[in-house]
Amino acid sequence: MSAAARRAHWRDLVERRLPEAARPDWPVRLDHCFGRILLDHACGGPWRDQVRPPAHATLPLDQLETAIALGEAVLAGHADLALLNRRSLAWRGKIPPAPVPAIRDGGLILSRWRPEDAAPFAALNADPAVMAHFARPRTGAESAAEAGLLDRRFVADGFGPWALEHDGRFVGFAGAMRILRPLPFPGGDRPGSTVELAWRLAREAWGRGLATRAARLALADLAGRCGIRAVVAFTAVGNVRSRAVMERLGMAPSGTFPHPAVPEGPLREHVLYRLDGADREEAA
Ligand SMILES: CC(C)(COP(=O)(O)OP(=O)(O)OC[C@H]1O[C@@H](n2cnc3c(N)ncnc32)[C@H](O)[C@@H]1OP(=O)(O)O)[C@@H](O)C(=O)NCCC(=O)NCCS
Repeated sequence: MSAAARRAHWRDLVERRLPEAARPDWPVRLDHCFGRILLDHACGGPWRDQVRPPAHATLPLDQLETAIALGEAVLAGHADLALLNRRSLAWRGKIPPAPVPAIRDGGLILSRWRPEDAAPFAALNADPAVMAHFARPRTGAESAAEAGLLDRRFVADGFGPWALEHDGRFVGFAGAMRILRPLPFPGGDRPGSTVELAWRLAREAWGRGLATRAARLALADLAGRCGIRAVVAFTAVGNVRSRAVMERLGMAPSGTFPHPAVPEGPLREHVLYRLDGADREEAA
């Protein structure tokens, strides 16, 4: 479908279909409120910080597709509009953020992101070995944008992918994120409700057990502070190291799926792993 058709689809969704479908239990019913919620999620923060209005004309197409997919999920009853509204309002400072205490375990510290993490994060994102299972390494600007997006997860949800410091040096991230783009597996098709675990470490930090250790700390915090015990993780089928982390955590393989955001090719097919409360008791 052409870009113009997708942009017209977006306008019809936000300006007509969602307001017409608004239910009494939905927190909003006006077109601009649906637009705010969906666009903020496509941008990972207040959308006007990223694009000029009108967003239907200026938002890059891949982000527009994210907004459309989330809006269609709301219409289908697969996404919790109240949760999405709270996340959008939190990003806009309308809901006071909950404090997020750092986690310390010996020389390993899990914390929110600091400005000084930007340079070492850009370095690991530019390393072809670290990014072997992604489409390509990231530029410095993409890396800085990603760090902002990852940290804003804590503002929206109270949890997120922690910046990891080991023996005084930033080494990467590990932690939990709500899945916000519909994915083709049970639970993944309910954006907002399913939580994924993710990690990415600088090459020199591999082989020391840090990803698994940080993920265990993040999981304990997620269960204890946020009450979330079930998580998924997924990666390109060939990403043996990441799969090994999932297995060390006691996660159970749960099939494969083609990742809709990854172009056709060897990186598209993803393995899915799951961990629920019962698995966690056994793995502890
Ligand atoms: C995925 C990734 C985080 C895994 O890192 P990792 O170092 O292999 O995983 P862990 O931190 O769990 O460390 C396990 C290794 O440390 C070793 N190790 C050393 N000391 C250890 C200790 N005290 N405890 C546990 N393991 C220890 C283990 O034997 C294992 O080594 P091996 O791979 O030679 O068998 C890393 O490869 C990475 O960042 N990849 C690029 C980003 C990526 O693909 N992310 C996932 C995308 S979905």
